[in-house]
Amino acid sequence: MASTLTIKDLHVEIEGKEILKGVNLEIKGGEIHAVMGPNGTGKSTLASAIMGHPKYEITSGSITLDGQDVLEMEVDDRARAGLFLAMQYPSEITGVTNADFLRSAINARREEGKEISLMKFIKELDNKMELLEMDLDMAQRYLNEGFSGGEKKRNEILQLMMIQPAIAILDEIDSGLDIDALKIVSKGINEMRSSEFGCMIITHYQRLLNYITPDKVHVMMQGRVVKSGGPELAQRLEAEGYDWIKAELGIEDETVSQEA
Ligand SMILES: Nc1ncnc2c1ncn2[C@@H]1O[C@H](COP(=O)(O)OP(=O)(O)OP(=O)(O)O)[C@@H](O)[C@H]1O
Ligand SMILES: [Mg+2]
Repeated sequence: MASTLTIKDLHVEIEGKEILKGVNLEIKGGEIHAVMGPNGTGKSTLASAIMGHPKYEITSGSITLDGQDVLEMEVDDRARAGLFLAMQYPSEITGVTNADFLRSAINARREEGKEISLMKFIKELDNKMELLEMDLDMAQRYLNEGFSGGEKKRNEILQLMMIQPAIAILDEIDSGLDIDALKIVSKGINEMRSSEFGCMIITHYQRLLNYITPDKVHVMMQGRVVKSGGPELAQRLEAEGYDWIKAELGIEDETVSQEA
């Protein structure tokens, strides 16, 4: 059954500072949404809030998955319910191999006694790694430990393809990828496309969307979704930047990012 993730008037604070100031967004199975926006506008905060990162305090609003209150769920239960996050900066976990992590994550979503067989798991893992052109040795390495930036991103897509979530949030999955890897990662995401799968792709660049055509494009600024449209919106952003949206909406200049 296709799932629907609904975010309504979401307000989120970090250490007493309001970062999200009323986000509204709905993602249904079968849809791919791109979320764009200047640095520091709250895109990763939104992703972390959906997944239940303890640092992010939800002060008002709601997140539901098929009508179920996500905010009431523990982090593990959110994953079990079918939510998946590929983080902007994936964590390294020493002592847990990639393969063990994947098998546990798959089984966590299954009932007791219905765990994936080792044979089936290995076969699927081999298939997906081949599709993503990954070295099979990576399955036996500790999760993300010593992986290059691009290898981590590719590994997030391996997790996505193995776990088969209902709704995935991919935070800058294209950052640090070389030109060939960008195509491979896009192939993996496109392979996931089905009426049962909904996806939010957070990205800065149109180039990823050349390979994965989004159904909708949203722009976040100052903690809100300020504009939504089709793929043409991402093309206009690539060509013109964000100033025209700020002018259109009468938004004062963003707090400038720390980066030079
Ligand atoms: N743990 C934290 N402690 C303090 N401030 C934080 C924390 N996490 C996020 N922030 C602040 O919240 C704001 C939004 O950050 P966020 O990471 O959501 O931005 P973003 O839109 O994902 O930006 P980018 O495009 O650079 O990834 C920033 O000003 C950031 O400094
Ligand atoms: Mg971010």
